[in-house]
Amino acid sequence: MPLVPAVRIPVDPDDPDRDAVARAAAVLLEGQLVAFPTETVYGLGALATDPAAIARVFAAKGRPASDPLIVHVHPSWTLDGVVAGEPSPVAHRLQAAFWPGPLTIVAARAAAIPRAVTAGGESVAVRAPAHPVALALLEAVGAPVAAPSANRFSYVSPTSADHVAADLGDRCAVILDGGRTTWGIESTVVREHDGRLEVLRHGAVTAEALTAAVGDLVAVVDPRSDLDAGASVSPGRSVRHYAPEIETIAVDPSLLAASDAAAGLADDRRVTYLGRGGRPSLLPPSVRFEALGDADDLVGVAWSLYDALRRLDAEGATDLLLIELTGASGLGRAIDDRIRRAASGRVAATALDLRQLGP
Ligand code: TXA
Ligand code: MG
Repeated sequence: MPLVPAVRIPVDPDDPDRDAVARAAAVLLEGQLVAFPTETVYGLGALATDPAAIARVFAAKGRPASDPLIVHVHPSWTLDGVVAGEPSPVAHRLQAAFWPGPLTIVAARAAAIPRAVTAGGESVAVRAPAHPVALALLEAVGAPVAAPSANRFSYVSPTSADHVAADLGDRCAVILDGGRTTWGIESTVVREHDGRLEVLRHGAVTAEALTAAVGDLVAVVDPRSDLDAGASVSPGRSVRHYAPEIETIAVDPSLLAASDAAAGLADDRRVTYLGRGGRPSLLPPSVRFEALGDADDLVGVAWSLYDALRRLDAEGATDLLLIELTGASGLGRAIDDRIRRAASGRVAATALDLRQLGP
């Protein structure tokens, strides 16, 4: 692959310039890669029907061929050519309720989608994004675009064009720069299985919203019994994913209520604590505190999390990162899922845990 810097094309996220989008579409149609903003995170796009372009995506990210890609479609298109057969009543309802938007539906693969996209499997993940730039690009291409998050494999997803450039700046042809993404956390991935709707990845659409939309037709379940068990069903569930370089531990919100918590946090190393709201009074002064958002602002926390992880890595001024779990339902489930993965599954609920998980 030629290591040529990507052409970065600025676009107005609300009203993207037609010529800019047409340039990017032409590059995709030639089989090259284009990074573009969606409402969740930036995607690394390739023509879904072109196996050579799909191979470039896996090579650019360093992603194992066993991890399937999401196919992006324009909401005005039929799913013929992407999904086999008619949508089920549940799929129909989900599309009506959440598309365009951050919900990915796993369904039967149509023959036109190469197996490279689906990691050899007979199911395909599909979503219709809501971001004006993504919509304009799909319209200009006129064909489905496969796009994983535009980061190096297992690193933090990109929520800005700068993040994409840092990871893949010489591994894609074009970066459409539409500024920060709206949600800052990935789409929710669901599949119908055994008469239930399984949430394979929590994301911007909450389980509660799914239940409100289809709960009368099907039970909405989280099939995860533990982090590893899900990894073969949906590889994004593997335990270390979305992870910064800094050593990271997830912290239960109850930890800092314990009187001996400060002892667990006494550390010679440079420690940063990412929380919500104000600085916890029991946090030792040596620990740097940063709020991802207000205490009750989960949307703000989701938006800030990946940006904070990348910034702290780039600064190189933190040796140990502690991130407080929200313990909340709704969007909190998606946030806590990402925090646990950023911490490679290491969670401290007590000062003792913290000492044992430390160096
Ligand atoms: O918000 C998003 O979903 C972003 C934007 C760019 O659309 N994309 C994204 O893609 O996060 P990626 O590749 O980083 O994550 C896709 C997730 C992975 O966890 C993958 O294992 C799962 O979707 N997935 C893809 N195809 C699947 C399939 N056929 N069955 C089960 N899981 C699948
Ligand atoms: Mg990803």
